[in-house]
Amino acid sequence: MEHEQSRRLEKRRRKRCVILIVIVVLIVIVIIAVVLGLTLRQNKSEFESTFLSRCEKFNQYDCKKVWGAFQQAYVNKDPCKVPVEAYDPLIAAAPFKPQCNRMMFWSKTKDVVHGFTEKKDCFVTLEDTLLGSVLDGLTWCGKEGSKDTFTTGCPGWSECENNTVRSFWNRASAAFADVACGDVTAMLNGSINTPFNPTSIFASVEVPRFNASRVKNLNVVMVIQKNNISNCTDPSLKNLTQVLDTGITYSCKDVSESRIQECGAKPEIACGACW
Ligand SMILES: *[C@@H]1O[C@H](CO)[C@@H](O)[C@H](O)[C@H]1NC(C)=O
Ligand SMILES: *[C@@H]1O[C@H](CO)[C@@H](O)[C@H](O)[C@H]1NC(C)=O
Ligand SMILES: *[C@@H]1O[C@H](CO)[C@@H](O)[C@H](O)[C@H]1NC(C)=O
Ligand SMILES: *[C@@H]1O[C@H](CO)[C@@H](O)[C@H](O)[C@H]1NC(C)=O
Ligand SMILES: *[C@@H]1O[C@H](CO)[C@@H](O)[C@H](O)[C@H]1NC(C)=O
Ligand SMILES: *[C@@H]1O[C@H](CO)[C@@H](O)[C@H](O)[C@H]1NC(C)=O
Ligand SMILES: *[C@@H]1O[C@H](CO)[C@@H](O)[C@H](O)[C@H]1NC(C)=O
Repeated sequence: MEHEQSRRLEKRRRKRCVILIVIVVLIVIVIIAVVLGLTLRQNKSEFESTFLSRCEKFNQYDCKKVWGAFQQAYVNKDPCKVPVEAYDPLIAAAPFKPQCNRMMFWSKTKDVVHGFTEKKDCFVTLEDTLLGSVLDGLTWCGKEGSKDTFTTGCPGWSECENNTVRSFWNRASAAFADVACGDVTAMLNGSINTPFNPTSIFASVEVPRFNASRVKNLNVVMVIQKNNISNCTDPSLKNLTQVLDTGITYSCKDVSESRIQECGAKPEIACGACW
């Protein structure tokens, strides 16, 4: 009798022990799955969170909608087969607003231009707009058969013509130039041989879009550094005047980099008096 009772007790204890082990194993499995799922999801959305946090600074767009319109341009596509038009829905979701007399274009002068526009609230570049500022400096692409966004292994700027990033900048630049109006300013680089280079976005996409029904004047600021090799007399600028829509007046001024920096740093110098 006593012997049988202790055996039953022993059996019950073992049963409980097995159940406990099973529960512990299940809990561990669930924890591992949750942690793995979280890290996987976190890695996937790193680009998305950068996109959304930069977008939300603007306070005037439905950023989730903009993100959706952005993704449809390249997700599940060969990153070398994203034509410029793929970004049309994105431009429609976050259209550029005309800012007459304040629009600033640039070619090979990015750092000087942005150093200036950051300090002085005179001009707006593409990179100061919602889409330009959200995607400035980023790399992204999709892959056939995947719904993810990749930030590494994407084709370089000149690897293929219709690549994800290049097509975006071409499309956004065209849309920005389409709304240009009034007096338009462009900063070009006097330290290179061809300040108005036909292969640049400025020459190939932007200037041909300036429309005389909206743009009055194109004012080129030639940034002159110590190592200057060209200026407003450069022959490539003759090409610019030929491409420009008839009716838009053209002017060009050589301005030293130090003058631009001085003007950016001194709030007492009026915008119109910088050059
Ligand atoms: C997620 O990112 C972390 C650090 O950024 C990395 O250690 C981890 O391996 C990544 N996980 C996956 C599944 O890629
Ligand atoms: C790039 O896309 C355009 C359409 O936007 C197309 O006409 C052109 O042939 C494509 N270029 C290449 C190299 O595939
Ligand atoms: C002009 O181009 C040269 C050569 O690429 C570069 O070193 C220089 O910083 C540029 N100048 C400006 C004002 O951006
Ligand atoms: C300028 O706009 C008008 C209508 O707004 C259009 O007919 C014309 O083709 C445009 N010109 C250029 C150079 O885009
Ligand atoms: C470079 O700048 C110096 C000083 O401003 C000027 O004398 C010279 O003519 C310039 N050279 C060119 C090619 O513009
Ligand atoms: C502009 O450049 C030409 C040669 O490229 C030079 O002869 C001329 O002095 C320069 N003008 C100025 C104002 O620097
Ligand atoms: C002017 O533009 C044409 C194409 O429109 C190009 O072939 C030529 O090289 C350009 N000239 C200069 C000096 O940039």
